[in-house]
Amino acid sequence: MQTNVAEIADHIYRISTCVPDAAPGGFTFNQFLIDADEPLLFHTGPRGMFPLVSQAVARILPLVRLRWIAFGHVESDECGAMNQFLAAAPRAAVAHGALGCMVSLDDLCDRPPRRLADGEVIDLGGKRVRHIDTPHVPHNWESRVLFEESTRTLFCGDLLTHAGDGPPLTDGDIVGPALAAEEFFHATSLTIATGPTIRRLAVLEPRMLALMHGSSTRARCGESLHALAAAYEQMISQH
Ligand SMILES: [Fe+2]
Ligand SMILES: [Fe+2]
Repeated sequence: MQTNVAEIADHIYRISTCVPDAAPGGFTFNQFLIDADEPLLFHTGPRGMFPLVSQAVARILPLVRLRWIAFGHVESDECGAMNQFLAAAPRAAVAHGALGCMVSLDDLCDRPPRRLADGEVIDLGGKRVRHIDTPHVPHNWESRVLFEESTRTLFCGDLLTHAGDGPPLTDGDIVGPALAAEEFFHATSLTIATGPTIRRLAVLEPRMLALMHGSSTRARCGESLHALAAAYEQMISQH
């Protein structure tokens, strides 16, 4: 497996490893590194990928400089390697929503995590990230997304997940491929909150959607979020 690094916005790097057998056409596991005064890594990758991901981070900045470890929710691809990163970066701490800390991370993290309130901002020095609670969207009670204010980048985790080893950024449609992946994985919790929660993210007017699985995009961000919400609402109405 090969791990690729691309700068997709000013000082924001996408670290991508394609696992060929995880889905038809391959399936990427992506982490995002925000290189600021207090560098933040969004998604750690699973424990087994720590050598690949940490070496990729080290191509951009020394691992010991990492200050924040963040992710969408508690699953191995999101945070499996968090304690390995905490060990490699003595100043680093996990930052997550208060509920996720209470339910899981206060116990799972080798050092105490920072608890964030909904809407709370961490000033990274050169970049500012806003924590937004999205319970059960796309799945898991403790789910959240992160919004970087200067580039208007929405780190939307598993939302809009699609298969294939595409380019770091695409101008093409990502909603169709995401709905095909949904049909394959059935990963999203379909509840009455799904559509409204995704529509609230469109209100942020993101200029880039940074996806954990698949290509990120700067094209039609709000439109794609509304289309995704509408597709889930339709699925729910058919049940
Ligand atoms: Fe997930
Ligand atoms: Fe994921």
